[in-house]
Amino acid sequence: MSDASRWFRERLGRRPWWMNLLMLFCIYMAVIYVPWDLFVKPVAADEEVWFGVRFHGVWAKVLAVPHFVVYAAGAVGFWSMHRFMWPWAAVYVAQVALSFAVWPLLYLDGPSRFVSAVIGGGLFGALAWALHRSKPRFHVRRPSLRERYGEWALVTGASAGIGAAFARALARDGVSCVLTARRGERLRELATELESQHGVATRVVEADLATAGGAAPLLDAVADLEIDVLVNNAGFGYAGRLDLQDPARLDAMVQLNCAAPVALTAGLLPAMRARGRGAIVFTGSVAGLQPLPYHALYAATKSFDNLLGEALWAELIGTGVDVLVIEPGSTVSEFHEVAGELPHAGEPSEDVVDKALRALGHKPSHISGVFNWLRGNAGTRLLPRSAITLVAKGVIAEQTPEELR
Ligand SMILES: NC(=O)c1ccc[n+]([C@@H]2O[C@H](COP(=O)([O-])OP(=O)(O)OC[C@H]3O[C@@H](n4cnc5c(N)ncnc54)[C@H](OP(=O)(O)O)[C@@H]3O)[C@@H](O)[C@H]2O)c1
Repeated sequence: MSDASRWFRERLGRRPWWMNLLMLFCIYMAVIYVPWDLFVKPVAADEEVWFGVRFHGVWAKVLAVPHFVVYAAGAVGFWSMHRFMWPWAAVYVAQVALSFAVWPLLYLDGPSRFVSAVIGGGLFGALAWALHRSKPRFHVRRPSLRERYGEWALVTGASAGIGAAFARALARDGVSCVLTARRGERLRELATELESQHGVATRVVEADLATAGGAAPLLDAVADLEIDVLVNNAGFGYAGRLDLQDPARLDAMVQLNCAAPVALTAGLLPAMRARGRGAIVFTGSVAGLQPLPYHALYAATKSFDNLLGEALWAELIGTGVDVLVIEPGSTVSEFHEVAGELPHAGEPSEDVVDKALRALGHKPSHISGVFNWLRGNAGTRLLPRSAITLVAKGVIAEQTPEELR
C-alpha cells in the first residue's frame, strides 16, 4: 500500500463510518451546495429552513451564510476531530431534528404529516444523540509531549520570542530542554525558570548558528543526550531593498535560516529514526508563501524552511518521527526590531507555539491565524503572481523605513 493510501485510511479510521458520511455531507454542502444556493439560485426561488420555519427570498439568502459557516466548520471539525465539535455538532443536529419534526406539522396537510414528523425528527434525533455520546472521540486525553516523544528537546533561538515560548511549553509538558542562542545570560535565566517551575533538566549551549559550520559545535555539545524533539526556530529577517543591504548579513541569514536547520536535522534525525520516535519542528513563516519585496531574501529563506519541513513530513510518515512547519504571520517578539522594521502588531508568541504543538503529529504545516490562512491559501493560489507580489510590496513598504526602500 502506498504512503498516500495508508495516510488516507488512517485519517478515515479516526471516526466511525457514519461520522465519515457526515463529514462527506458537510464537505459537499460547504463546497458545492451552499455556494450554488448563495450565488446561483435566483433570490425569488431561494428557501431556507431553520428550527422548522421556512424563510424565502432575501432572508433565505442571508440565512444561507450561517449554513455555510456550520458546514465548513463541520467539514474541518470532523476532519481533525476537533474539540469544538462537542457539543456543537450534537446541538446543530438536534436543531435539524427539531426542524424535521416541526416543518411537516406547519406546512403539510393530512395524517401523513405526523408520520413525516416522527420519522424525520426521530432519525435526526438519533443522530444528535449519537453525536452527543461521542464526546470521548472529540475530547481525547492526549499524552504529554514527554510521553509521546521522549525526554530531551533542543530549541534553537531560545533566548527570545517564539523559541523561549517553545521551551516553556515543552518544559510544562515535562520535556527537558537544551537551550541555545548567542545570548547566554538570557538562556541561563530561562533555564533557572524552567527548572524551578517545571522540575525539568536544562542545558545551556551558547552558539552562533549564522556562521558556516556553526551547527557542528552544538551537535557535539548534545552528543551525549538522546534528543527526541528538535525545534529549528532561530532566525532573523532583514528589511529593505536588496541592493542596499550588507552582503555579509544576507549570507548570515541564509546560514541561520536555512543551513543550520539542515545541519541540525541531518545530525539528529538518524537517531530519532532508529529509536522510532521523535519530533522536528521548523519555524517557517507565511512570509515563505509568496514573494515579499523589501524582505526578498527573508521570504526566500522561509520558503526553504516551509518546503523542507513539509517534504520531511512525508518522508518520515510511519517512522514514528513527526514533522511540523509552523507558519506564523506577524508575531510579538524581538523579530521586527532586529529586522529593522517599523513597529507593527502581531500575535503573541505563546499562541503561535500552542497552535504548533496542537498541530504536531496531525499535519505537515500549520498557518497561524485565519487571516494568514486566507492570505496563504486563497490569496496566493487564486490571484496572479504579479498581483500578489505587488500587493505584498505595498504591505511590506508600510513596515519598512523609507530610507531602506
Ligand atoms: N516574529 C515574527 O513576526 C515571525 C513571523 C514568522 C516567522 N518568524 C520566525 O520565527 C523564528 C523566531 O523568531 P522570533 O520572532 O522569536 O524572533 P526573535 O525574538 O528575534 O528571536 C530570534 C531568536 O533567534 C536567535 N538567533 C538570532 N541570530 C542567531 C545566531 N546567529 N545564532 C544563534 N541564534 C540566533 C536569537 O538569539 P540571540 O540573539 O541570543 O542569538 C533569538 O533567540 C524565526 O525563524 C523567524 O523567522 C517570526
